[in-house]
Amino acid sequence: MSTFFRGRHLITTQDFTNEEIEMMLDLAKELKIKFSYGEPTPYLLYKTLFLIFFDESTRTRNSMQAGIAQLGGTGIFLTPDKMQIAHGEVAKDTGIILSRFGDGIGIRFCKFGQGNKYLREMAAHSKAPIMNLQDDVYHPFQVLADLMTIQERFGKNLRGLKVGISWAYAESHLKPLSVPQSQILLFTRFGMDITLAYPEGFDLMPEIVEQAKKNAEKFGGSLKISHKMEDAFVDADVVIPKNWGGFFVSDNPDEIRAEQAKHKNWICTEDLMKLTKKHSIYMHALPADRGKEVVDSVIDGPHSVVYDEAENRLHTAKAVMTLLMGGRF
Ligand code: CP
Repeated sequence: MSTFFRGRHLITTQDFTNEEIEMMLDLAKELKIKFSYGEPTPYLLYKTLFLIFFDESTRTRNSMQAGIAQLGGTGIFLTPDKMQIAHGEVAKDTGIILSRFGDGIGIRFCKFGQGNKYLREMAAHSKAPIMNLQDDVYHPFQVLADLMTIQERFGKNLRGLKVGISWAYAESHLKPLSVPQSQILLFTRFGMDITLAYPEGFDLMPEIVEQAKKNAEKFGGSLKISHKMEDAFVDADVVIPKNWGGFFVSDNPDEIRAEQAKHKNWICTEDLMKLTKKHSIYMHALPADRGKEVVDSVIDGPHSVVYDEAENRLHTAKAVMTLLMGGRF
């Protein structure tokens, strides 16, 4: 199986076919079952993975570090301030050297306008797979876990599933565009009908929206844009209300925050959940700004699958590492 995957970079799910995505998820499901039995899965024995985090993380860092350990390998956690990156070492030089030392490199770099460029520069020179642990454009590991969670609830045929992806207010930090962008790109490829709702000005990157529309056309999904939060909830099977920064509103973070503050009413409430189908699920990549993006009674309530979604980060991370780092036989 791994001959199709070994050595390939994962910058975006767009680089993999639907069949390949299904293979990743099938392996993730198998690993999840084995993990629940306590069955060893030493597919990456003696392999080394470097994990460079420019930004904070709970789920991504720990799913990768726990995952590589459970596969028999070693994860080395690195931060740029303790590397020569802090003294100006370029992505090419870091990538060439680390890929001579080990078998994979994971990177999180979310700075708008910089992260994806940095990853692509490193991918152009690294002989080991580069794994995007979230940049300013994509969050492939999150969206794979999201798709796995949706498949667990609704099965593999997701054609016509109604998914509402909505902006929501937050104060904690300016959240990247990468989660909703990855979701509209991948979910349209599996035939889902997406309503994307956000206040005027909080646009996603136009080229990503265009690509998602092309995906929808090719694979039988759809993508509608609205500026009313309710539209993402009406009759939805899945709702994903989550903040993202208004990076096209302004370059100035204070101005973006001021603009966000005009939309404090964009919060996921029980009244909004009543507009969804009875069996609907509430998803969030986490961390959530409780009381701002969502009320506690929804995120802790019967529709919420946020902890299953977070757990699936481990299983999908292990599947991707196994396939790209080539240890499966
Ligand atoms: N969803 C997600 O990527 O979580 P972390 O920021 O904690 O890694």
